[in-house]
Amino acid sequence: MGTVEATRNEQAATASEGKADALTITDRRTGRVYEVPITHGTIRAMDLRQIKTGPDDFGLMSYDPAFLNTASTTSRITYIDGDKGILRYRGYPIEVLAENCTYLEVAYLLIYGELPTNKQYEQWVHDITYHTMIHESLKKVMDAFNYDAHPMGMLISTVAAMSTFYPEAHQVHDRKMREKQIHRLIAKMPTVAAFAYRHSVGMPYMYPSNALSYSENFLTMLFRTPAEKYKPNPALVRALDVLFILHADHEQNCGTHAMRGIGSAHTDPYSAVTGAAAALYGPLHGGANEEVLKMLQEIGSISNVPAFIKEVKEGKGEKRLMGFGHRVYKNFDPRAKIIKRMAEEVFEVTGRNPLLDIALELERIALQDEYFVKRKLYPNVDFYSGLIYEALGIPSGAFTVLFAIPRTSGWLAQWQEMLEDPEQKIARPRQIYLGQGERAFVPMEKRSGSSAR
Ligand code: ACO
Repeated sequence: MGTVEATRNEQAATASEGKADALTITDRRTGRVYEVPITHGTIRAMDLRQIKTGPDDFGLMSYDPAFLNTASTTSRITYIDGDKGILRYRGYPIEVLAENCTYLEVAYLLIYGELPTNKQYEQWVHDITYHTMIHESLKKVMDAFNYDAHPMGMLISTVAAMSTFYPEAHQVHDRKMREKQIHRLIAKMPTVAAFAYRHSVGMPYMYPSNALSYSENFLTMLFRTPAEKYKPNPALVRALDVLFILHADHEQNCGTHAMRGIGSAHTDPYSAVTGAAAALYGPLHGGANEEVLKMLQEIGSISNVPAFIKEVKEGKGEKRLMGFGHRVYKNFDPRAKIIKRMAEEVFEVTGRNPLLDIALELERIALQDEYFVKRKLYPNVDFYSGLIYEALGIPSGAFTVLFAIPRTSGWLAQWQEMLEDPEQKIARPRQIYLGQGERAFVPMEKRSGSSAR
Protein backbone atom coordinates (compact mmCIF):
# COMPACT_ATOMS: atom_id res chain seq x y z
CA MET A 1 0.00 0.00 0.00
CA GLY A 2 1.75 3.15 -1.12
CA THR A 3 2.06 5.86 1.50
CA VAL A 4 3.60 9.20 0.78
CA GLU A 5 6.02 11.02 3.00
CA ALA A 6 5.43 14.76 2.85
CA THR A 7 6.84 17.87 4.42
CA ARG A 8 4.79 20.05 6.78
CA ASN A 9 4.21 22.47 3.91
CA GLU A 10 3.04 19.72 1.64
CA GLN A 11 0.72 18.61 4.43
CA ALA A 12 -0.80 22.06 4.60
CA ALA A 13 -1.16 22.11 0.82
CA THR A 14 -2.84 18.74 0.83
CA ALA A 15 -5.25 19.88 3.49
CA SER A 16 -6.11 23.03 1.57
CA GLU A 17 -6.78 21.02 -1.59
CA GLY A 18 -9.32 19.19 0.52
CA LYS A 19 -7.87 15.78 -0.31
CA ALA A 20 -10.03 13.24 1.47
CA ASP A 21 -9.57 9.66 2.67
CA ALA A 22 -6.08 10.08 4.06
CA LEU A 23 -4.64 10.60 7.50
CA THR A 24 -1.78 13.04 7.93
CA ILE A 25 0.57 12.06 10.74
CA THR A 26 3.29 14.25 12.20
CA ASP A 27 6.05 12.36 13.98
CA ARG A 28 7.17 14.78 16.68
CA ARG A 29 10.35 12.78 17.21
CA THR A 30 11.62 13.64 13.73
CA GLY A 31 9.32 16.40 12.51
CA ARG A 32 8.46 14.26 9.49
CA VAL A 33 4.95 14.20 8.15
CA TYR A 34 3.33 11.13 6.60
CA GLU A 35 0.14 10.64 4.70
CA VAL A 36 -1.61 7.34 5.25
CA PRO A 37 -4.59 6.30 3.10
CA ILE A 38 -7.92 5.62 4.77
CA THR A 39 -9.99 2.84 3.20
CA HIS A 40 -13.31 1.64 4.63
CA GLY A 41 -12.73 3.92 7.64
CA THR A 42 -9.50 2.10 8.40
CA ILE A 43 -5.79 2.70 8.13
CA ARG A 44 -3.46 -0.20 7.50
CA ALA A 45 -1.20 -0.93 10.45
CA MET A 46 1.58 -1.77 7.96
CA ASP A 47 1.43 1.81 6.69
CA LEU A 48 2.76 2.88 10.09
CA ARG A 49 5.92 0.82 9.65
CA GLN A 50 7.54 3.47 7.44
CA ILE A 51 7.42 5.90 10.38
CA LYS A 52 10.94 5.57 11.78
CA THR A 53 13.38 7.65 13.79
CA GLY A 54 16.31 6.33 11.75
CA PRO A 55 17.44 3.44 9.53
CA ASP A 56 17.87 1.08 12.54
CA ASP A 57 14.40 1.76 13.89
CA PHE A 58 11.96 -1.14 13.26
CA GLY A 59 9.18 1.31 12.50
CA LEU A 60 5.98 2.29 14.28
CA MET A 61 3.54 -0.44 15.34
CA SER A 62 0.03 -0.21 16.76
CA TYR A 63 -0.75 -1.76 20.17
CA ASP A 64 -4.21 -3.24 20.61
CA PRO A 65 -4.56 -5.97 23.24
CA ALA A 66 -7.81 -7.91 22.76
CA PHE A 67 -8.33 -6.29 19.32
CA LEU A 68 -10.52 -3.51 20.68
CA ASN A 69 -10.01 -1.42 17.56
CA THR A 70 -8.29 -3.63 15.04
CA ALA A 71 -9.87 -5.33 12.03
CA SER A 72 -7.99 -8.57 11.39
CA THR A 73 -9.68 -9.29 8.08
CA THR A 74 -12.10 -8.12 5.45
CA SER A 75 -15.19 -10.33 5.24
CA ARG A 76 -18.35 -10.69 3.20
CA ILE A 77 -20.17 -13.08 5.53
CA THR A 78 -21.72 -11.38 8.56
CA TYR A 79 -22.53 -7.73 9.21
CA ILE A 80 -23.11 -6.33 12.69
CA ASP A 81 -23.99 -2.78 13.66
CA GLY A 82 -23.53 -2.98 17.41
CA ASP A 83 -24.97 0.47 18.12
CA LYS A 84 -28.15 -0.15 16.17
CA GLY A 85 -28.50 -3.84 17.14
CA ILE A 86 -28.33 -5.09 13.53
CA LEU A 87 -27.16 -8.56 12.49
CA ARG A 88 -27.17 -9.83 8.90
CA TYR A 89 -25.80 -12.96 7.27
CA ARG A 90 -24.70 -12.29 3.68
CA GLY A 91 -26.96 -9.21 3.67
CA TYR A 92 -30.12 -10.88 5.02
CA PRO A 93 -31.42 -9.60 8.38
CA ILE A 94 -31.29 -12.28 11.07
CA GLU A 95 -34.99 -11.74 11.84
CA VAL A 96 -35.95 -12.58 8.23
CA LEU A 97 -33.79 -15.70 8.16
CA ALA A 98 -35.13 -16.87 11.53
CA GLU A 99 -38.68 -16.40 10.26
CA ASN A 100 -38.34 -18.05 6.86
CA CYS A 101 -35.45 -20.50 6.72
CA THR A 102 -34.26 -23.79 8.08
CA TYR A 103 -30.86 -23.94 9.76
CA LEU A 104 -29.42 -25.96 6.87
CA GLU A 105 -30.58 -23.31 4.39
CA VAL A 106 -28.76 -20.69 6.46
CA ALA A 107 -25.66 -22.89 6.72
CA TYR A 108 -25.66 -23.11 2.91
CA LEU A 109 -25.99 -19.33 2.70
CA LEU A 110 -23.02 -18.83 5.01
CA ILE A 111 -20.80 -21.31 3.18
CA TYR A 112 -21.70 -20.47 -0.45
CA GLY A 113 -22.81 -16.83 -0.17
CA GLU A 114 -26.32 -17.27 -1.62
CA LEU A 115 -29.53 -18.92 -0.48
CA PRO A 116 -29.95 -22.30 -2.20
CA THR A 117 -32.41 -23.05 -5.00
CA ASN A 118 -34.70 -26.01 -4.47
CA LYS A 119 -32.32 -28.33 -6.28
CA GLN A 120 -29.24 -27.02 -4.49
CA TYR A 121 -31.00 -27.36 -1.14
CA GLU A 122 -32.03 -30.96 -1.81
CA GLN A 123 -28.49 -31.89 -2.72
CA TRP A 124 -27.10 -30.03 0.33
CA VAL A 125 -29.53 -31.69 2.73
CA HIS A 126 -28.66 -35.05 1.17
CA ASP A 127 -24.91 -34.40 1.51
CA ILE A 128 -25.27 -33.43 5.16
CA THR A 129 -27.74 -36.20 6.03
CA TYR A 130 -25.51 -38.89 4.53
CA HIS A 131 -22.51 -37.85 6.60
CA THR A 132 -24.07 -37.92 10.05
CA MET A 133 -22.69 -41.33 11.11
CA ILE A 134 -19.41 -41.34 13.00
CA HIS A 135 -16.71 -43.99 12.80
CA GLU A 136 -17.20 -46.76 15.36
CA SER A 137 -13.65 -46.21 16.62
CA LEU A 138 -14.51 -42.58 17.31
CA LYS A 139 -17.35 -43.85 19.45
CA LYS A 140 -14.77 -45.85 21.40
CA VAL A 141 -12.75 -42.67 21.91
CA MET A 142 -15.85 -41.15 23.47
CA ASP A 143 -16.39 -44.25 25.63
CA ALA A 144 -13.00 -43.67 27.22
CA PHE A 145 -14.15 -40.51 28.99
CA ASN A 146 -15.04 -40.58 32.65
CA TYR A 147 -18.76 -40.85 33.45
CA ASP A 148 -18.92 -37.21 34.60
CA ALA A 149 -16.92 -35.71 31.72
CA HIS A 150 -18.22 -32.30 30.65
CA PRO A 151 -19.98 -32.70 27.26
CA MET A 152 -18.10 -29.71 25.86
CA GLY A 153 -14.73 -31.19 26.87
CA MET A 154 -15.80 -34.42 25.17
CA LEU A 155 -16.93 -32.60 22.03
CA ILE A 156 -13.68 -30.68 21.75
CA SER A 157 -11.53 -33.79 22.18
CA THR A 158 -13.65 -35.88 19.83
CA VAL A 159 -13.54 -33.32 17.03
CA ALA A 160 -9.75 -33.22 17.46
CA ALA A 161 -9.68 -37.00 17.16
CA MET A 162 -11.72 -36.77 13.94
CA SER A 163 -8.73 -35.28 12.11
CA THR A 164 -6.99 -38.65 12.49
CA PHE A 165 -9.89 -40.39 10.72
CA TYR A 166 -9.75 -38.10 7.70
CA PRO A 167 -6.05 -37.48 6.95
CA GLU A 168 -6.98 -36.14 3.48
CA ALA A 169 -8.47 -33.12 5.28
CA HIS A 170 -4.97 -31.61 5.30
CA GLN A 171 -5.45 -30.75 1.63
CA VAL A 172 -6.96 -27.42 2.57
CA HIS A 173 -6.30 -25.82 -0.83
CA ASP A 174 -8.35 -28.41 -2.69
CA ARG A 175 -11.89 -27.03 -2.93
CA LYS A 176 -13.59 -30.38 -3.37
CA MET A 177 -11.69 -31.81 -0.43
CA ARG A 178 -12.67 -28.82 1.68
CA GLU A 179 -16.31 -29.27 0.72
CA LYS A 180 -16.17 -32.88 1.85
CA GLN A 181 -14.88 -31.89 5.28
CA ILE A 182 -17.52 -29.15 5.50
CA HIS A 183 -20.24 -31.76 4.89
CA ARG A 184 -18.70 -34.06 7.46
CA LEU A 185 -18.26 -31.45 10.15
CA ILE A 186 -21.74 -29.91 9.84
CA ALA A 187 -23.25 -33.41 9.70
CA LYS A 188 -21.29 -35.05 12.50
CA MET A 189 -21.33 -32.27 15.10
CA PRO A 190 -24.89 -33.12 16.26
CA THR A 191 -23.99 -36.81 16.44
CA VAL A 192 -20.86 -36.15 18.52
CA ALA A 193 -22.75 -33.63 20.67
CA ALA A 194 -25.62 -36.05 21.30
CA PHE A 195 -23.23 -38.90 22.08
CA ALA A 196 -21.34 -36.66 24.52
CA TYR A 197 -24.61 -35.92 26.30
CA ARG A 198 -25.69 -39.58 26.32
CA HIS A 199 -22.32 -40.58 27.76
CA SER A 200 -22.67 -38.01 30.53
CA VAL A 201 -26.04 -39.45 31.56
CA GLY A 202 -25.05 -43.10 31.09
CA MET A 203 -27.47 -43.74 28.21
CA PRO A 204 -26.66 -45.83 25.11
CA TYR A 205 -25.76 -43.84 22.02
CA MET A 206 -28.64 -43.38 19.60
CA TYR A 207 -27.58 -43.49 15.94
CA PRO A 208 -28.68 -40.77 13.50
CA SER A 209 -31.67 -41.35 11.25
CA ASN A 210 -31.70 -40.20 7.60
CA ALA A 211 -35.49 -39.91 7.68
CA LEU A 212 -35.37 -36.94 10.06
CA SER A 213 -34.53 -33.27 9.64
CA TYR A 214 -31.30 -31.89 11.09
CA SER A 215 -32.85 -30.61 14.31
CA GLU A 216 -35.36 -33.44 14.75
CA ASN A 217 -32.56 -35.93 14.31
CA PHE A 218 -30.51 -34.17 16.97
CA LEU A 219 -33.36 -34.15 19.50
CA THR A 220 -34.00 -37.82 18.74
CA MET A 221 -30.35 -38.75 19.27
CA LEU A 222 -30.50 -36.86 22.57
CA PHE A 223 -33.72 -38.20 24.00
CA ARG A 224 -34.91 -41.42 22.38
CA THR A 225 -34.53 -44.47 24.57
CA PRO A 226 -34.18 -47.90 22.95
CA ALA A 227 -37.30 -49.02 24.84
CA GLU A 228 -39.71 -46.39 23.56
CA LYS A 229 -40.84 -44.54 20.49
CA TYR A 230 -39.93 -40.86 20.43
CA LYS A 231 -41.40 -38.06 18.35
CA PRO A 232 -40.36 -34.55 19.36
CA ASN A 233 -43.01 -31.83 19.34
CA PRO A 234 -42.73 -29.98 15.96
CA ALA A 235 -42.86 -26.62 17.78
CA LEU A 236 -39.78 -27.61 19.77
CA VAL A 237 -38.00 -28.89 16.66
CA ARG A 238 -38.65 -25.53 14.99
CA ALA A 239 -37.50 -23.64 18.11
CA LEU A 240 -34.22 -25.54 18.09
CA ASP A 241 -33.77 -24.90 14.36
CA VAL A 242 -34.29 -21.17 14.94
CA LEU A 243 -31.78 -21.23 17.81
CA PHE A 244 -29.32 -22.87 15.42
CA ILE A 245 -29.93 -20.09 12.86
CA LEU A 246 -29.32 -17.39 15.50
CA HIS A 247 -26.04 -18.98 16.60
CA ALA A 248 -24.66 -19.81 13.15
CA ASP A 249 -22.21 -16.94 12.75
CA HIS A 250 -21.18 -13.75 14.46
CA GLU A 251 -18.20 -12.38 12.50
CA GLN A 252 -14.84 -12.06 14.24
CA ASN A 253 -15.65 -13.24 17.77
CA CYS A 254 -13.20 -15.12 20.00
CA GLY A 255 -13.98 -18.60 18.62
CA THR A 256 -13.99 -17.49 14.97
CA HIS A 257 -10.75 -15.65 15.53
CA ALA A 258 -9.28 -18.93 16.85
CA MET A 259 -10.65 -20.77 13.78
CA ARG A 260 -9.05 -18.31 11.38
CA GLY A 261 -5.84 -18.12 13.40
CA ILE A 262 -5.34 -21.89 13.51
CA GLY A 263 -6.55 -22.30 9.93
CA SER A 264 -4.03 -19.68 8.78
CA ALA A 265 -1.29 -22.23 9.51
CA HIS A 266 -3.08 -24.49 6.93
CA THR A 267 -4.04 -26.88 9.70
CA ASP A 268 -6.87 -29.29 8.84
CA PRO A 269 -10.42 -28.04 9.61
CA TYR A 270 -11.08 -30.60 12.37
CA SER A 271 -8.12 -29.31 14.36
CA ALA A 272 -9.13 -25.71 13.66
CA VAL A 273 -12.74 -26.35 14.75
CA THR A 274 -11.33 -27.95 17.91
CA GLY A 275 -9.54 -24.69 18.74
CA ALA A 276 -12.58 -22.60 17.91
CA ALA A 277 -14.80 -24.80 20.09
CA ALA A 278 -12.28 -24.56 22.94
CA ALA A 279 -12.54 -20.76 22.76
CA LEU A 280 -16.33 -21.01 22.70
CA TYR A 281 -16.23 -23.15 25.87
CA GLY A 282 -15.04 -20.18 27.95
CA PRO A 283 -17.59 -18.57 30.32
CA LEU A 284 -17.02 -15.14 28.77
CA HIS A 285 -17.99 -16.54 25.35
CA GLY A 286 -20.35 -19.44 24.54
CA GLY A 287 -19.95 -20.92 28.00
CA ALA A 288 -22.01 -17.99 29.30
CA ASN A 289 -25.33 -19.78 28.58
CA GLU A 290 -24.44 -22.41 31.18
CA GLU A 291 -23.32 -19.70 33.61
CA VAL A 292 -26.61 -17.80 33.16
CA LEU A 293 -28.59 -20.80 34.28
CA LYS A 294 -26.33 -21.36 37.29
CA MET A 295 -26.73 -17.67 38.14
CA LEU A 296 -30.54 -17.80 37.89
CA GLN A 297 -30.62 -20.91 40.07
CA GLU A 298 -28.31 -19.24 42.59
CA ILE A 299 -30.55 -16.17 42.74
CA GLY A 300 -33.47 -18.51 43.37
CA SER A 301 -36.35 -16.03 43.53
CA ILE A 302 -37.42 -12.61 42.27
CA SER A 303 -37.06 -11.12 45.73
CA ASN A 304 -33.28 -11.83 45.65
CA VAL A 305 -32.73 -9.98 42.36
CA PRO A 306 -32.01 -6.49 43.83
CA ALA A 307 -29.40 -7.94 46.22
CA PHE A 308 -27.75 -9.81 43.34
CA ILE A 309 -27.62 -6.69 41.17
CA LYS A 310 -26.06 -4.82 44.11
CA GLU A 311 -23.39 -7.52 44.46
CA VAL A 312 -22.57 -7.29 40.74
CA LYS A 313 -22.23 -3.53 40.95
CA GLU A 314 -20.10 -3.65 44.08
CA GLY A 315 -18.01 -6.46 42.61
CA LYS A 316 -16.72 -3.95 40.03
CA GLY A 317 -16.28 -6.51 37.29
CA GLU A 318 -15.37 -9.41 39.62
CA LYS A 319 -18.92 -10.73 39.64
CA ARG A 320 -20.78 -10.28 36.37
CA LEU A 321 -24.37 -10.40 35.33
CA MET A 322 -23.89 -13.35 33.00
CA GLY A 323 -25.65 -13.07 29.65
CA PHE A 324 -25.29 -9.30 29.75
CA GLY A 325 -22.85 -7.13 27.84
CA HIS A 326 -21.10 -7.59 24.54
CA ARG A 327 -17.94 -6.32 22.92
CA VAL A 328 -19.82 -5.24 19.80
CA TYR A 329 -23.46 -4.71 20.79
CA LYS A 330 -24.02 -1.53 22.73
CA ASN A 331 -27.74 -1.98 22.23
CA PHE A 332 -30.08 -4.98 22.35
CA ASP A 333 -28.52 -8.07 20.82
CA PRO A 334 -31.10 -8.79 18.07
CA ARG A 335 -30.71 -12.51 18.72
CA ALA A 336 -31.69 -12.05 22.37
CA LYS A 337 -34.89 -10.29 21.27
CA ILE A 338 -35.89 -13.24 19.05
CA ILE A 339 -34.98 -15.79 21.72
CA LYS A 340 -36.97 -13.94 24.38
CA ARG A 341 -40.07 -14.07 22.16
CA MET A 342 -39.45 -17.69 21.32
CA ALA A 343 -39.07 -18.65 24.99
CA GLU A 344 -42.72 -17.77 25.53
CA GLU A 345 -43.76 -19.99 22.58
CA VAL A 346 -41.66 -22.89 23.85
CA PHE A 347 -43.08 -22.56 27.36
CA GLU A 348 -46.59 -22.89 25.93
CA VAL A 349 -45.58 -26.45 25.01
CA THR A 350 -43.28 -27.34 27.89
CA GLY A 351 -44.77 -25.32 30.71
CA ARG A 352 -43.27 -22.09 32.01
CA ASN A 353 -39.75 -22.24 33.38
CA PRO A 354 -39.94 -20.43 36.74
CA LEU A 355 -36.43 -19.09 36.16
CA LEU A 356 -37.85 -16.95 33.35
CA ASP A 357 -39.45 -14.63 35.89
CA ILE A 358 -36.09 -14.12 37.58
CA ALA A 359 -34.48 -13.42 34.20
CA LEU A 360 -37.20 -10.91 33.28
CA GLU A 361 -36.78 -9.15 36.60
CA LEU A 362 -33.00 -9.03 36.22
CA GLU A 363 -33.44 -7.53 32.77
CA ARG A 364 -36.03 -5.02 33.99
CA ILE A 365 -33.84 -3.76 36.83
CA ALA A 366 -30.57 -3.82 34.88
CA LEU A 367 -32.02 -1.86 31.96
CA GLN A 368 -32.88 1.05 34.23
CA ASP A 369 -29.90 0.86 36.59
CA GLU A 370 -27.27 3.52 35.99
CA TYR A 371 -24.36 1.02 36.24
CA PHE A 372 -25.66 -1.02 33.29
CA VAL A 373 -27.11 1.92 31.36
CA LYS A 374 -23.83 3.87 31.51
CA ARG A 375 -21.85 0.87 30.28
CA LYS A 376 -24.46 0.02 27.63
CA LEU A 377 -24.90 -3.52 28.96
CA TYR A 378 -27.88 -5.28 27.37
CA PRO A 379 -28.95 -8.93 27.34
CA ASN A 380 -26.91 -10.95 24.84
CA VAL A 381 -27.73 -14.18 22.99
CA ASP A 382 -26.91 -16.31 26.04
CA PHE A 383 -29.29 -14.62 28.46
CA TYR A 384 -32.46 -16.43 27.40
CA SER A 385 -31.16 -19.36 25.33
CA GLY A 386 -30.36 -21.50 28.41
CA LEU A 387 -33.96 -21.23 29.60
CA ILE A 388 -35.16 -22.70 26.31
CA TYR A 389 -32.54 -25.42 26.35
CA GLU A 390 -33.61 -26.31 29.86
CA ALA A 391 -37.25 -26.40 28.82
CA LEU A 392 -36.25 -28.81 26.02
CA GLY A 393 -34.88 -31.09 28.75
CA ILE A 394 -31.20 -30.42 28.07
CA PRO A 395 -28.96 -30.24 31.15
CA SER A 396 -26.92 -27.06 31.55
CA GLY A 397 -23.59 -28.85 30.99
CA ALA A 398 -24.64 -29.47 27.37
CA PHE A 399 -25.70 -25.87 26.57
CA THR A 400 -22.44 -24.78 25.00
CA VAL A 401 -22.44 -27.92 22.91
CA LEU A 402 -25.73 -26.71 21.46
CA PHE A 403 -24.01 -23.46 20.53
CA ALA A 404 -21.06 -25.25 18.90
CA ILE A 405 -23.27 -27.29 16.54
CA PRO A 406 -24.59 -24.39 14.44
CA ARG A 407 -21.51 -22.20 14.92
CA THR A 408 -19.58 -24.88 13.01
CA SER A 409 -21.12 -23.62 9.74
CA GLY A 410 -19.99 -20.07 10.54
CA TRP A 411 -16.50 -21.21 11.50
CA LEU A 412 -16.21 -23.16 8.25
CA ALA A 413 -17.49 -20.26 6.13
CA GLN A 414 -14.95 -17.95 7.77
CA TRP A 415 -12.17 -20.54 7.41
CA GLN A 416 -12.89 -20.94 3.71
CA GLU A 417 -12.99 -17.19 3.19
CA MET A 418 -9.65 -16.84 4.97
CA LEU A 419 -8.02 -19.53 2.81
CA GLU A 420 -9.22 -17.84 -0.38
CA ASP A 421 -8.20 -14.35 0.69
CA PRO A 422 -4.91 -13.49 -1.08
CA GLU A 423 -4.09 -10.98 1.66
CA GLN A 424 -4.18 -13.51 4.48
CA LYS A 425 -0.99 -15.13 5.74
CA ILE A 426 -0.19 -17.10 8.85
CA ALA A 427 -1.58 -15.11 11.79
CA ARG A 428 1.31 -13.85 13.81
CA PRO A 429 0.83 -10.75 15.98
CA ARG A 430 3.67 -8.60 17.25
CA GLN A 431 4.42 -7.89 20.90
CA ILE A 432 5.99 -5.11 22.93
CA TYR A 433 8.72 -6.77 24.93
CA LEU A 434 8.99 -5.28 28.44
CA GLY A 435 11.07 -8.02 30.06
CA GLN A 436 14.75 -8.23 31.07
CA GLY A 437 17.53 -7.21 28.71
CA GLU A 438 20.35 -9.69 28.15
CA ARG A 439 21.85 -10.81 31.45
CA ALA A 440 24.51 -13.20 32.73
CA PHE A 441 23.56 -16.82 33.50
CA VAL A 442 23.49 -17.67 37.25
CA PRO A 443 24.32 -21.27 38.27
CA MET A 444 21.59 -22.94 40.37
CA GLU A 445 23.52 -22.88 43.67
CA LYS A 446 23.97 -19.11 43.38
CA ARG A 447 20.36 -18.17 42.56
CA SER A 448 18.59 -15.96 45.11
CA GLY A 449 15.14 -17.51 44.66
CA SER A 450 13.52 -14.10 44.39
CA SER A 451 10.98 -15.12 41.73
CA ALA A 452 7.29 -14.81 42.57
CA ARG A 453 6.75 -18.57 42.89
N1 ACO B 1 -21.95 -7.61 34.35
C1 ACO B 1 -21.44 -6.56 35.05
N2 ACO B 1 -20.56 -5.68 34.55
C2 ACO B 1 -20.16 -5.89 33.28
C3 ACO B 1 -20.64 -6.95 32.50
C4 ACO B 1 -21.58 -7.83 33.07
N3 ACO B 1 -22.06 -8.86 32.39
N4 ACO B 1 -20.06 -6.91 31.27
C5 ACO B 1 -19.25 -5.84 31.29
N5 ACO B 1 -19.30 -5.22 32.50
C6 ACO B 1 -18.62 -3.98 32.88
C7 ACO B 1 -17.13 -4.22 33.12
O1 ACO B 1 -16.85 -4.52 34.47
C8 ACO B 1 -16.55 -2.89 32.68
O2 ACO B 1 -16.79 -1.95 33.73
P1 ACO B 1 -15.70 -0.78 34.01
O3 ACO B 1 -15.77 0.10 32.81
O4 ACO B 1 -16.19 -0.14 35.27
O5 ACO B 1 -14.37 -1.45 34.18
C9 ACO B 1 -17.42 -2.47 31.50
O6 ACO B 1 -18.68 -3.11 31.75
C10 ACO B 1 -16.88 -2.92 30.16
O7 ACO B 1 -16.65 -4.33 30.19
P2 ACO B 1 -15.46 -5.05 29.46
O8 ACO B 1 -15.16 -6.33 30.18
O9 ACO B 1 -14.33 -4.12 29.23
O10 ACO B 1 -16.14 -5.36 28.07
P3 ACO B 1 -15.64 -6.41 27.02
O11 ACO B 1 -16.10 -5.93 25.70
O12 ACO B 1 -14.20 -6.71 27.17
O13 ACO B 1 -16.42 -7.75 27.44
C11 ACO B 1 -18.02 -9.44 27.62
C12 ACO B 1 -17.52 -8.24 26.80
C13 ACO B 1 -16.86 -10.44 27.83
C14 ACO B 1 -19.11 -10.16 26.83
C15 ACO B 1 -18.57 -8.94 28.97
O14 ACO B 1 -19.64 -8.06 28.77
C16 ACO B 1 -18.98 -10.08 29.91
O15 ACO B 1 -18.13 -10.62 30.62
N6 ACO B 1 -20.31 -10.46 29.92
C17 ACO B 1 -20.75 -11.57 30.72
C18 ACO B 1 -20.41 -12.88 30.02
C19 ACO B 1 -21.29 -13.12 28.82
O16 ACO B 1 -22.51 -13.00 28.88
N7 ACO B 1 -20.64 -13.53 27.71
C20 ACO B 1 -21.35 -13.88 26.49
C21 ACO B 1 -21.11 -12.86 25.41
S1 ACO B 1 -21.99 -13.32 23.94
C22 ACO B 1 -21.03 -14.54 23.28
O17 ACO B 1 -19.82 -14.54 23.38
C23 ACO B 1 -21.65 -15.61 22.62
